[in-house]
Amino acid sequence: MERSGRVRKGIVLAGGAGTRLYPLTEVTSKQLLPVYDKPMVYYPLATLISGGISDILLISTPRDLPRFREVLGDGSRFGIALSYVEQPRPEGIAQSFILGRDFIADQAVCLILGDNLFYGEMDPFFEALAHTEGATIFGYPVRDPQRYGVIELDGHGRPVSIEEKPAHPRSSLAVPGLYVYDGRVCDFALELRPSARGELEITDLNRAYMAEGTLRVGRLGRGTAWLDTGTPESLHAASTFVATIEQRQSVKIGCPEEAALRQGLISPDDMLTRLANMPATDYRAYVEGVCRELAGGR
Ligand code: TTP
Repeated sequence: MERSGRVRKGIVLAGGAGTRLYPLTEVTSKQLLPVYDKPMVYYPLATLISGGISDILLISTPRDLPRFREVLGDGSRFGIALSYVEQPRPEGIAQSFILGRDFIADQAVCLILGDNLFYGEMDPFFEALAHTEGATIFGYPVRDPQRYGVIELDGHGRPVSIEEKPAHPRSSLAVPGLYVYDGRVCDFALELRPSARGELEITDLNRAYMAEGTLRVGRLGRGTAWLDTGTPESLHAASTFVATIEQRQSVKIGCPEEAALRQGLISPDDMLTRLANMPATDYRAYVEGVCRELAGGR
């Protein structure tokens, strides 16, 4: 197991049934649906890349995985290495670490859910990526914590309980779908037993680190937008949010090309060459603008 350095590996979990979005998801993966001007999966992908994560595994259903390959390819156009693994059935978020065992190869890894959108102040996430021992999850205050995993902290900010969708939440801190684990995560996952709903629960995995005293909790606060997109209302709200910011500021949210350019994972020259194959759209013009800015041409 690596003992120092930064987290370099990431997993995007983009399977699941998408039942709440039916009939939108009858023939399409939830994570390929549009959030304003790009497919949903671009957002979590850009979040990982913005943390300097350049070796990424995407997990999805046997039905949908071929479409992700078509959309994202081998990742070279983003300056990253992308690989793919099927999840035959939606048997829980923590199953990612069993399916991704060969990819992880005992190294620290960050998991992001394919329908989670983050924007704004992400320093706690970047700090978490500097730890390759133990685990980091995040706490984000919400109005309706009973819909999520809920974390309770003591007076020193240390976790004392985590509960999955509690009827009576002990705090307002929901746990977003963004987690960082050390290289032992696959072994921990292999020890999990399915819950009453038949899933390997990410909450049980986090409890194992908490029991060991190695679970950190980063705080994402009011400077961060965390949106999930699993219902028609939340999908629409996420699109509206992205459209509002993008139109007002002329920036793009969730642009993997931009994240890779700013991380130095691909040079502006290489990106411009690759953009030649992209239709002449606003999206292309935007990425070209980032290339020019970074090349000092503005
Ligand atoms: P959920 O939103 O809990 O489940 P879902 O996407 O299947 O939707 P629904 O409840 O409407 O049927 O899942 C959260 C994220 O995790 C989502 O991006 C799908 C993903 N996921 C998997 O890929 N595999 C799984 O086994 C589970 C449980 C979730």
